[in-house]
Amino acid sequence: MADYDYDVLIIGAGPGGYVAAIRAAQLGLKTACVEGRDTLGGTCLNVGCIPSKAMLHASEYFDAAANGSMAKMGVLVEPKLDLEAMHAQRRDAVKQLTGGIEFLFKKNKVDWLKGYAQFTTADTVEVAGKSYRAKNIVIATGSNVTPLPGVTIDQKVVVDSTGALELPKVPKKMVVIGGGVIGLELGSVWRRLGAEVIVVEFLDALLPGMDMDVRKEAAKIFKKQGMTLKLGTKVTGVAVKGNTATLTLEPAAGGATETLEADCVLVSIGRRPNTDGLALDKAGLDVNARGQIEIDHDFRTKVAGIWGIGDVVPGPMLAHKAEDEGIAVAENIAGQTGIVNHAVIPSVVYTWPEIAGVGLTEDQAKEQGEIKVGKFPMLANSRAKTNHEPDGFVKVIADAKTDRVVGVWCIASVAGTMIAQAAQAMEFGATSEDIAYTCHAHPTHSEAIKEAAMAVTGKPIHM
Ligand code: FAD
Ligand code: NAI
Repeated sequence: MADYDYDVLIIGAGPGGYVAAIRAAQLGLKTACVEGRDTLGGTCLNVGCIPSKAMLHASEYFDAAANGSMAKMGVLVEPKLDLEAMHAQRRDAVKQLTGGIEFLFKKNKVDWLKGYAQFTTADTVEVAGKSYRAKNIVIATGSNVTPLPGVTIDQKVVVDSTGALELPKVPKKMVVIGGGVIGLELGSVWRRLGAEVIVVEFLDALLPGMDMDVRKEAAKIFKKQGMTLKLGTKVTGVAVKGNTATLTLEPAAGGATETLEADCVLVSIGRRPNTDGLALDKAGLDVNARGQIEIDHDFRTKVAGIWGIGDVVPGPMLAHKAEDEGIAVAENIAGQTGIVNHAVIPSVVYTWPEIAGVGLTEDQAKEQGEIKVGKFPMLANSRAKTNHEPDGFVKVIADAKTDRVVGVWCIASVAGTMIAQAAQAMEFGATSEDIAYTCHAHPTHSEAIKEAAMAVTGKPIHM
């Protein structure tokens, strides 16, 4: 240790980096975490998961009052929007949670090195003019917005997710470029608050990567809620004049162009890894064709002593994936066995209703062998019905021979909470029968998972 400043130095304090730092310190390693932002927590806490959920939660209340769903239950209110107060509670949530990480760093004796790190050699980085040598360096620099060629994000008329979280007034007409997770979550926020929202998606279905039944059902639900969906369409240009943007659209397969005017355009066509400025070459590292740092099963890069986790390495760009990798990498560095089962990482879209899945889609499962599928509609679930939440379904996919569950997909008001039990069941190698014979509390939305599991072998009760 004598000539090292740290056992572990982590670059980036997002959910990957800060969790790795805390775990490494808990394991008795002398740990530093480098972060250039003014607050800890990375994209997720500062401009991602947390502020978007604060706006989604608050706008859901507004919508419930405005769209008549509260009136259906005998609660009559006329909603009035105080957008500044809504933004204030979002900022407060971010402040409390980012401050919480700073507290945890102090509590666990993790040194926060303020600034941006750059490699000078494979075991040394420079931060704010000072050099630090570490036995192990973990790259957890996360990701940022993928730009759309030819489109300038001015954070006024043309915004990315960060700008879309902070709009000072509700747009009249918002065009969302990209019908993925960000487009649908933030598009939902502003639709609920009164904007006309048009989603332009290059592919023929929303939410690439999710099960096709879920993607089709989601499109129906969003249309019913008043969003306009332009699928199979690409944006070829955005011209801004004053407070108005004019977008040029074209069918993805080519054909006649059309134009659309809007006072707000959200660019949400994906995210790309942050590696610029790290001087990876000085460490002997490079990136793959997708800009990611390649790692092995243990999160080791090709250079001994340098590790990678989170959005900057391959895999889904999700906070919980980054966190689990953060724990595992710290354990591996400490000589323990840190493992993440990448086959069982749930994903959730926090719209209304929520959309969630874990494991294989039906198409992927079919490619791997014979399967059985059980489906159960939320309309037939007593709690969803009582709560006036009829939209959605649960789908359980099991191996035809072994009955082992290989994927679970759901659309339901609380799908994000429901999917945890599916992930746990899959982690334990459950069969559909195991789920079907597990007692689920009544009346809960989760009973729909039990019934879908029963449907795998053709015997649901309430359908
Ligand atoms: P990041 O959170 O991106 O953190 C990396 C940190 O590294 C940053 O703070 C950056 O400043 C710092 N950094 C970069 N380079 C350097 C350097 N050279 N030196 C020092 N510091 C550096 N995921 C979910 O699972 N659930 C959600 O609900 C969800 N919602 C999202 C909503 C939005 C609007 C967005 C944009 C993302 C959302 N995500 C969500 C994705 C989630 O935020 C990311 O997957 C997650 O933050 C990745 O964690 P990370 O630690 O890899 O990187
Ligand atoms: P995304 O990959 O989810 O969706 C981007 C969409 O844009 C795709 O459907 C793609 O086909 C489309 N697209 C690409 N180019 C286009 C073009 N020129 N014109 C029209 N459509 C185009 O990316 P998104 O929504 O930007 O989110 C980035 C990442 O952040 C995701 O990978 C996600 O994992 C993470 N995230 C996770 C959340 C969650 O877990 N709830 C919430 C928000 C973000």
